[in-house]
Amino acid sequence: MRKVGIIGAGLMGTGIAQTVAQAGMDVVLADIDLAIAEKARDSIDRTLTKLVEKGKMDGTAADAIVARIQPAADYQPMRDADLIIEAATEREDVKRMIFGSIAEVLAPDAILATNTSSIPITRMAASSPDPTRFIGLHFFNPVPVMKLVEVIPGLATSEATVAKMTAFSEKIGKVVVHAGDEPAFVVNRILCPMLNEAIFVLGSGTGSVLDIDNGCKLGLNHPMGPLQLSDFVGLDTLLEIMKILQESTGEDKYRPAPLLRKYVEAGWTGKKSGRGFYDYSGEVPVPTR
Ligand code: CAA
Ligand code: NAD
Repeated sequence: MRKVGIIGAGLMGTGIAQTVAQAGMDVVLADIDLAIAEKARDSIDRTLTKLVEKGKMDGTAADAIVARIQPAADYQPMRDADLIIEAATEREDVKRMIFGSIAEVLAPDAILATNTSSIPITRMAASSPDPTRFIGLHFFNPVPVMKLVEVIPGLATSEATVAKMTAFSEKIGKVVVHAGDEPAFVVNRILCPMLNEAIFVLGSGTGSVLDIDNGCKLGLNHPMGPLQLSDFVGLDTLLEIMKILQESTGEDKYRPAPLLRKYVEAGWTGKKSGRGFYDYSGEVPVPTR
């Protein structure tokens, strides 16, 4: 792999771009608006500057990493990419529209991967230019730090595509887990119902934000409490994942917590919007309930 296209320059697209560029590959980072992609590259620049200040990275290396990332507002610069990773909003209609537009730029041997958290791969493969070269490549947040990538083949994904994506993930320093094509795959099938349940517990008044988060940090040794982690993932993304789980399995046990729906309706989508179960406007996050 020499060049990678990334579609969606939010939380995940930014982290994937940094990680891929750090591994020495060229990156085209696209979003609906060039300003969003440029802002993402600026934030990578700031992250790397901090690493340089801490003495963990050489300044010249940091400059070279940032220079390898080309922000874009369309997919034309991805014509010669070996791999395109879709990391846009967790909505099936959005992703299907992107796959439709990619057909004209996806090179004949290039792979199209989706970083979806929950949407079944086989179901979306029908909208992709070539289902044999379509696969799930599920990164974890924050991408530069988290070691895991789930590789999820759809029914028609070729063995060559799986082998190439496993090798690519290892080349960028990740450890691969192979997951079956079931809604939310392996890790989110376990994690997201737990985060949703923590929001039910908050909504029922059983505990405050701090009771729940400190309880899980101190009682389970989790690095973050489930409400802080929900904010960190994005409450809009978590809501979409729970909706997909409920719709795809027909199981009511996955119904989204009413308080989760309310927060998303209020625009309180977590850390990225400045407010979720914590208020992020000051130096230190402050619980909101
Ligand atoms: N690039 C490179 N290095 C980075 C970095 C970046 N963007 N961001 C942080 N780091 C490094 C820091 O420099 C630091 O390194 P040292 O320990 O060597 O100094 C290290 O990572 C830890 O960073 P911090 O000290 O700032 O933070 P921390 O110790 O409080 O840990 C955390 C932060 C890793 C996020 C930790 O709180 C954690 O593990 N939280 C849980 C994360 C998690 O569960 N993620 C999965 C979410 S679910 C998901 O992603 C799937 C989905 O589909 C929803
Ligand atoms: P985000 O809300 O931070 O960013 C989504 C980005 O996609 C936004 O910048 C938006 O402008 C862009 N976008 C929307 N429509 C687009 C289009 N048509 N073309 C190009 N860009 C478009 O979301 P995120 O957290 O980065 O999540 C992105 C994907 O990664 C989702 O599928 C999500 O489920 C998955 N994911 C998220 C996490 C997480 O912890 N947040 C972890 C793993 C996987």
